[in-house]
Amino acid sequence: MLKSICALAVGSLLLASTSLHAASDSGPIVIKFSHVVADNTPKGQGALLFKTLAEERLGDKVKVEIYPNSTLYGDANELDALSKNEVQLLAPSLAKFEQYTKQLQVFDLPFLFDDLEAVNRFQKRSKGRQLLRSMESQNIVGLAYWHNGMKQLSATKPLLVPTDAAGLTFRIQPSSVLQAQFSQLGATPLVLPFAEVFEALKSGKVQGAENPWSNIYSKQLHTVQPYITETNHGVLDYMLVSNPRFWYAIPHQIRTQLEGIIDEVTYEVNRQAEAANQADRNRIAATSGTQIISLTDEQRDAWRQAMRPVWQQFEGVIGADIIKAAQTVNRNKR
Ligand code: SIN
Repeated sequence: MLKSICALAVGSLLLASTSLHAASDSGPIVIKFSHVVADNTPKGQGALLFKTLAEERLGDKVKVEIYPNSTLYGDANELDALSKNEVQLLAPSLAKFEQYTKQLQVFDLPFLFDDLEAVNRFQKRSKGRQLLRSMESQNIVGLAYWHNGMKQLSATKPLLVPTDAAGLTFRIQPSSVLQAQFSQLGATPLVLPFAEVFEALKSGKVQGAENPWSNIYSKQLHTVQPYITETNHGVLDYMLVSNPRFWYAIPHQIRTQLEGIIDEVTYEVNRQAEAANQADRNRIAATSGTQIISLTDEQRDAWRQAMRPVWQQFEGVIGADIIKAAQTVNRNKR
């Protein structure tokens, strides 16, 4: 036991000194930013803008390397790579932090946020900001929230009423809330990394999925999903994260500049995400082979009622105070 504690302490010291060395060396500080989506998505564009601004303003002090499309690390290993300082920036979707904090699961609750503006309000208020710090004891520092968009349900058959989903297998992100959401519909949830979604849908391993328009379009998921129901039933957002031992070892002046750049990039990503998703929705609508199904208010309400029991199921683990704070951000209170 004592041996393993000592090994852990030595490991931490080594990692800290590697990070310090990287930050104070005469060469540039190299920031590897790995993510799983395409360049032409809100997150992909944010990563590229961060690189452009950081290298423009910090000259030869900082070099940013972007690895999109799971080319360096994927869902299964990126957070582990961050903890080992093999990569220095990630922006996983909020659903992917479950093993580090249960509180972020609030973002997965179905029909909690009416739209991205409501999500934005929650993220800016005190509870939302506190959640950025909720994983520091696990060596993950949250630097910003980035939007993607509201999720839509896609499938091999039209999904008009909740019972239409029963019996289908849906690909999900690794989240117990999302698992419960599909179980609630009588469907089978299957956790798969984002990089495997297209093939799983194409081969019929799963028959449905949920994603914002930008992820559906950039990965051509609509070409293997003949029906997309415009449910806007949940949000898919990101947390830009680093390893605190790396981040806080960056010389103060450079770090402050990088944090300023992150603020600017965050503003741009979040300002443009909704429009980017709508543009991709229209691109999909313009193709043949995929039908976009719009729901009436009554139909959407039926989906809300069918999924709503998930809230009670997770109130204990997420915290009633957090769920309540999230509910207050919608314009139409329910
Ligand atoms: C992402 O947008 O980063 C991927 C989301 C997913 O796994 O569905």
